[in-house]
Amino acid sequence: MENKAFDLETVSLDDKNSALVILDQTLLPNEVLYLHLTEQADIWEAIYELRVRGAPAIGIAAGYGAYLGVKNSKATDADSFYKEFSEVKKYLASSRPTAVNLFWALDKMEACLLANRGKSIPEIKEALRVQSEEIKAEDIRTNKAIGEYALSLLQPNTGILTHCNAGTLATGKYGTATSAMYLGQERGYNFKVFADETRPLLQGARLTTFELAQAGVDVTLICDNMASTVMRNGWIQSVFVGCDRVAANGDTANKIGTSGVAILAHNYGIPFYICAPTSTIDMNTPTGWDIHIEERNPDEVSKKWYEKPMAPETGVKIFNPVFDVTDARFITAIITEFGIARPPFSLSLKEIFKKKKDAGY
Ligand code: MRU
Repeated sequence: MENKAFDLETVSLDDKNSALVILDQTLLPNEVLYLHLTEQADIWEAIYELRVRGAPAIGIAAGYGAYLGVKNSKATDADSFYKEFSEVKKYLASSRPTAVNLFWALDKMEACLLANRGKSIPEIKEALRVQSEEIKAEDIRTNKAIGEYALSLLQPNTGILTHCNAGTLATGKYGTATSAMYLGQERGYNFKVFADETRPLLQGARLTTFELAQAGVDVTLICDNMASTVMRNGWIQSVFVGCDRVAANGDTANKIGTSGVAILAHNYGIPFYICAPTSTIDMNTPTGWDIHIEERNPDEVSKKWYEKPMAPETGVKIFNPVFDVTDARFITAIITEFGIARPPFSLSLKEIFKKKKDAGY
């Protein structure tokens, strides 16, 4: 799977293993700028401000960030090294609350440290570097597998709606929801993709259309409130979105607006698919009600993209939750790297994790 969109490296370690390199997504599509971050505060800010964003990419950045946070540690024994690591972990974990990949990746790094605790400090540091690279490599393998499963659900010459950006920019490569679009492009499926602009931070307009157009995919941008129209017109045969956390019962948190799209799809009898790496499925969260939904600065709604404020500056309250929960009953299937889970998800997701375990993960 090669195309121009994959020339853009979302998140990586530099050649000297001394900086986190991210493509600053707040500047896209107008500017392609890579940031080289070495300070923990800058890595935290990059995640908080969505310079690096999308659940899997946040996890990868946190893995690299945790390694960099202790790489120059002067600790001489494992206990004080672990104490320093725990501080770094706690700090990075506070950057954003909803995407479980952040915590998943930091837990993986911690487990790696503990498994190597008996070794010398330089050896533990090297093990952490290897683990951080593996988090990214695993994500890339995962997205390829999700793409193949997703493509098996699709017919050529059909219309697909997507919301937010669950693309190569949100992951190590290929994306989750976009992976089948890229595979289909390679194999002549001739998909017509409709991208919701995704208010208020416009990940669909700025990022999804950008990367799909670079790859030569037929993509049409619509405002969020046009989804019903394109569905009613018969232009959409399936909806594919990513996710930030899937609860054990299948309820799924994703970018604000996703649940409305799912309800519309249900109304028009259009299948609604969640593309979910197992790193985004949180079996310790029973239902969607247990997911912490991030709320952000009201200025993102009223000011961020406008020359002048688009709401009175006083006397108006603004509510800016940046994720919502789609009830499991509106989800046709959850596509993972270990297969496709269908309702009832409380059983099928357990099966997916059994397959993962049987495969040695
Ligand atoms: O606030 P963001 O841009 O980090 O939100 C991203 C999303 O909601 C994505 O759809 C989700 O993380 C899946 S990315 C493969």
